[in-house]
Amino acid sequence: MKNFILFVFTVSIIFSCTNVSEDDLIDVIEPPLVVTYNADIKIIIDNNCLNCHISPPINGANIPLLIFENVKNGVENNNLINRISKQAGESGAMPFGGPRLPQNLIDLLIQWEADGLLEN
Ligand code: HEC
Repeated sequence: MKNFILFVFTVSIIFSCTNVSEDDLIDVIEPPLVVTYNADIKIIIDNNCLNCHISPPINGANIPLLIFENVKNGVENNNLINRISKQAGESGAMPFGGPRLPQNLIDLLIQWEADGLLEN
């Protein structure tokens, strides 16, 4: 009888150990290994910046962000990453007058710069 109780106890301990972690339940979107303009950045800029930053720019914007060279230049010479990293409403924040970009998109631009501002 003692052995039987021990057996039931052991079996119930073993079966209570499952292998489901939070990561298995949430569909984690992994960032790409190398961020490129064509694969990752163009769509972010097109959807959030071209209301004003077309070529020539409108609505008071002063630089175009229409093509790869424009956006690369914006990061290198116009503080683009600093502008999108500001809190909404803060002076100089981009998109102008709009909500701040989701942090994962800002992180992609930061990674794009770290990866060397590649086109493809
Ligand atoms: C509603 C219009 C509008 C939208 C949308 C917009 N901008 Fe702007 N942007 C402006 C205006 C107006 C200025 C000039 C005033 C200023 O510098 O704050 C500007 C200036 C900038 C500058 C500074 C250029 C310089 O002179 O150095 C950068 C960089 C910039 N925007 C990036 C972006 C990015 C990136 C997005 C999209 C995430 C974006 N903007 C969306 C209107 C806009």
